[in-house]
Amino acid sequence: MKRIFSGIQPTHKMHLGNYLGAVRNWVRLQSEDYETIFCAVDLHALTVPQDPQALRANTRELLATLIAVGIDPKKSILFAQSQVPEHTELAWLFSCLTPMGWLKRMTQFKDKAGKHQDLAMHGLLAYPVLMAADILLYHATHVPVGEDQKQHLELTREIAGSFNHRFERDYFPLPEPQILGEAARVMSLRDGSKKMSKSDSSDYSRISLTDDADTIALKIRKARTDPDPVPSDRENMDSRPEARNLLTIYASLADTTIDAVIAERGGESFSTFKAALADLAVSVLSPISQELDRLTADPAQLDAILRENGARAREIARGTIADVKDTMGLINID
Ligand code: AMP
Ligand code: TRP
Repeated sequence: MKRIFSGIQPTHKMHLGNYLGAVRNWVRLQSEDYETIFCAVDLHALTVPQDPQALRANTRELLATLIAVGIDPKKSILFAQSQVPEHTELAWLFSCLTPMGWLKRMTQFKDKAGKHQDLAMHGLLAYPVLMAADILLYHATHVPVGEDQKQHLELTREIAGSFNHRFERDYFPLPEPQILGEAARVMSLRDGSKKMSKSDSSDYSRISLTDDADTIALKIRKARTDPDPVPSDRENMDSRPEARNLLTIYASLADTTIDAVIAERGGESFSTFKAALADLAVSVLSPISQELDRLTADPAQLDAILRENGARAREIARGTIADVKDTMGLINID
């Protein structure tokens, strides 16, 4: 049985890029063939300073958003990382099997720590060890992630391999990354050469899943384009990043190919195209935001779901920790 694990940081509202590029794919992975486990990685979020109230609110909102987009907490296991203390326990055990050199090599650490590595928090360096623990705690075999997480997945495989080798056991699987295709890369509405991102200072650069219909329509109307009409062929589109982005978003929301959109809409004025795109975006996103409103209005129901799902996750996690403690020579008294 394939088991899928993925995590997402609760540091911001989910935007259209996260949805079309990552989370919609998670929804589709829920099937008979896989067990799926999805986690709001709030402990990872603590590697940069967080406002405590905001972190808690964002974590609950992210989990509610995941349910609203279609993660079914009966089919999948959906929870917050900090609900299951075994994540940090396994991270410690793994940190005793992980050379510092492996961690200092991580591109994300180097980028985030900058020139003053000694001033960076230990958690930022240790971040990939916690990520390996997230995945291996559940013996996940497949991990859907963005390209930027590939190196962390390789480290996870090295940690799994070094545990297996050191203790001469074939215990942890070496999980495979499922890198999501370039097709799903959504760019900023203000600049077609930059990814739609949580950190862009302009709110007009992205559509949030919590935006209402008027805001979505306004952001699409204001999206940057050039004066030419909608491209009628791929060649013309490829040299026009903003046009390409709007066509990509349209195709992705309509669940069709870019070629089909070009065939249907090529030659139209952008004002006509944008109106159609806004209608489409609203038709896909408004049921999501309505469901999110419903979940937000009933925090007790969300708590009940998280309590039950956290308990399911913990049951698996406890089994792994018992095995690992036993293997590593720790006493296990229950
Ligand atoms: P982040 O918001 O950067 O923490 O990313 C969470 C997930 O969303 C990762 O799997 C990213 O690869 C994906 N993602 C983030 N921004 C975009 C984007 N603009 N287009 C497609 N996928 C994205
Ligand atoms: N590091 C991932 C990110 O920043 C989030 C994450 C944490 C994760 N633990 C994970 C992703 C386990 C996949 C599996 O996007």
